[in-house]
Amino acid sequence: MHQIYRAALVTGASSGIGERLARLLAADGCDLVVVARRAGRLEELAATLRAAHHVRVEVLPADLTTPAGLLAAESRLADASRPVELLVNNAGFSLSGHLADVQADGAEAQIRLNVLALVRLTHAILPGMLERRHGGVLNVSSVAGFLISPGSAVYAATKAFVTSFSESLAGEVSGRGVHVTALCPGLTRTEFHADGHEGTSSAPAFAWLDADRVARAGLDAVAAGRPVSVPGAQYKAIAGLARIVPRRILRTAGKASRRD
Ligand SMILES: NC(=O)c1ccc[n+]([C@@H]2O[C@H](COP(=O)([O-])OP(=O)(O)OC[C@H]3O[C@@H](n4cnc5c(N)ncnc54)[C@H](OP(=O)(O)O)[C@@H]3O)[C@@H](O)[C@H]2O)c1
Repeated sequence: MHQIYRAALVTGASSGIGERLARLLAADGCDLVVVARRAGRLEELAATLRAAHHVRVEVLPADLTTPAGLLAAESRLADASRPVELLVNNAGFSLSGHLADVQADGAEAQIRLNVLALVRLTHAILPGMLERRHGGVLNVSSVAGFLISPGSAVYAATKAFVTSFSESLAGEVSGRGVHVTALCPGLTRTEFHADGHEGTSSAPAFAWLDADRVARAGLDAVAAGRPVSVPGAQYKAIAGLARIVPRRILRTAGKASRRD
């Protein structure tokens, strides 16, 4: 069944895919809670969306790698007097580099944000959604989660977690009025790549996705109840192959693309 959402909480709404998701939701008339660390960016976005679409937009500045930030977002999601019908777990980041060369705190922060915050926020909202028999959870994962990625080992593993978690959870809530979707983009033009991150600056033009199209694909998939969405024909092909070719071939391909 196709769902319609009247209120959504979007993490990582201050830039990139999260900002596009917030804009598309507001244009559809959905009230918003926008979460990220950069409060100024969120306030600007909120003012624009209120004026353009006459929706309610709450700004919730929070660092989701910290217990206090996480608690603030969890409390908002658990507030039954202002139900959130769609949770978008989009905030995420990647530190490039071999594990031996990156700071342990940085590796941990990726896991805290990409995995721990995503699970805790989902856990905070799920009982209410199940009780109301209505709601959606859109988890922004990555094509990297299907692959073997020397140089981004922690990041790729966090995204493998997100996709696996989302597919299993979709099975748990199936038939109970709640949709769960993993959105798995490939390279998408956002601030994620601002510092030539992951050596992606040399990627060919056909590899790049537009953040608006990625966001639209995710929203369509969760509304329709599709557990996984891979935007773009080139990444559908990669994800499809990654699911059928032997792991040893993926390991060889990963080593070949390694940046030392
Ligand atoms: N761009 C790509 O090629 C690509 C490909 C596959 C998957 N993805 C995934 O897409 C998602 C969005 O990334 P993006 O490409 O849109 O990158 P982005 O433009 O860098 O956006 C990341 C968002 O996450 C927020 N964020 C970062 N750390 C946070 C923290 N500690 N607490 C709360 N919010 C935090 C950032 O806001 P503040 O800095 O204001 O906190 C920002 O709004 C991520 O999960 C990423 O892994 C991206």
